[in-house]
Amino acid sequence: MLRGTLMYLSDQPLAKRVFSGPLAKPLVSRFVAGVELNEALGNVQKLNSAGLTATLDYLGESVHTAAEAGAAAAQYIALLHGIERIGAQCNASLKLTQMGLDVDRALCVRNVERILAQAAAFNNFVRIDMEGSGYTQATLDIFNELYERYKNVGIVIQAYLYRSEADIRALNKLGARVRLCKGAYNEPASVAFPAKADTDNNYVKLMQMLLSEGNYPGIATHDERMIEATRSYAAKQGIAPDRFEFQMLYGIRRDLQEQLVREGYRMRVYVPYGEEWYPYMVRRMAERPANLLFVLKGLR
Ligand code: FDA
Repeated sequence: MLRGTLMYLSDQPLAKRVFSGPLAKPLVSRFVAGVELNEALGNVQKLNSAGLTATLDYLGESVHTAAEAGAAAAQYIALLHGIERIGAQCNASLKLTQMGLDVDRALCVRNVERILAQAAAFNNFVRIDMEGSGYTQATLDIFNELYERYKNVGIVIQAYLYRSEADIRALNKLGARVRLCKGAYNEPASVAFPAKADTDNNYVKLMQMLLSEGNYPGIATHDERMIEATRSYAAKQGIAPDRFEFQMLYGIRRDLQEQLVREGYRMRVYVPYGEEWYPYMVRRMAERPANLLFVLKGLR
């Protein structure tokens, strides 16, 4: 119920005003690496010096005008320049609704294409995040279209969706780079496993398909059981630790991030920044309501 309430709050302007106040700043800076690009780049450098790579996400979803989509794309071009300028070990992650998918599909494709061309010039990589199930097919279609022209683009697959096994099979055939996550949206039982245990079982199955037949997959999870399953499958199959990478979100399980690096695994941290931090932060709290304690401490 709390998860539902938090997801509801993510759309409420009043709740946003409360969380936007200076008192909630410690919470925001735990999950969000800055409002400005330079601040976020500084945090990426800190991660790099600790042996972790990163992927930068300029926060923002569902833009409603071509101008907003163009501005978000321009921010991604700036971000790629920033990464190049400081020589960071860092790529980019973006959402198609932020690139204008709800405004005009062709505009969205053009925006992403500009970003991919810039990334290719810098020998860098861009990952298309996966959004709610209403966008799954469109996201895969656009990914496939772009992948014909740009090999420096990757995609995300969510283990909670029934369709994901078939999607992974097709993506593995293409040689596409896939990030596997559990899935962060509220989905109906018609498209997604309602029970967490089924999502977890599917995650393990898809992870094995990606490790055995995929192209440098990103295993994105903070779940120690999923991580252990990945480590032991890789060891059993003789898959070297440089053939895949673990991925986690900025500020979550830093202890485990560093531990995996010490053990010789690759770890990429998803680093969000920008003014539109609110829906992102609420999703993180909905996943783990214990984070609310952190807010309350911050508010004291
Ligand atoms: P699970 O939710 O089962 O949590 C396992 C354990 O991890 C918890 O018990 C806790 O210890 C820890 N944990 C998890 N979340 C926490 C939190 N918020 N605060 C503190 N501890 C926490 N989703 C999506 O739909 N599309 C996408 O493109 C992406 N992209 C993405 C990139 C990366 C790098 C990551 C790590 C995740 C995503 N996600 C995503 C989000 C993903 O789908 C999922 O919602 C979260 O990762 C939480 O699931 P876990 O696998 O961590 O397991």
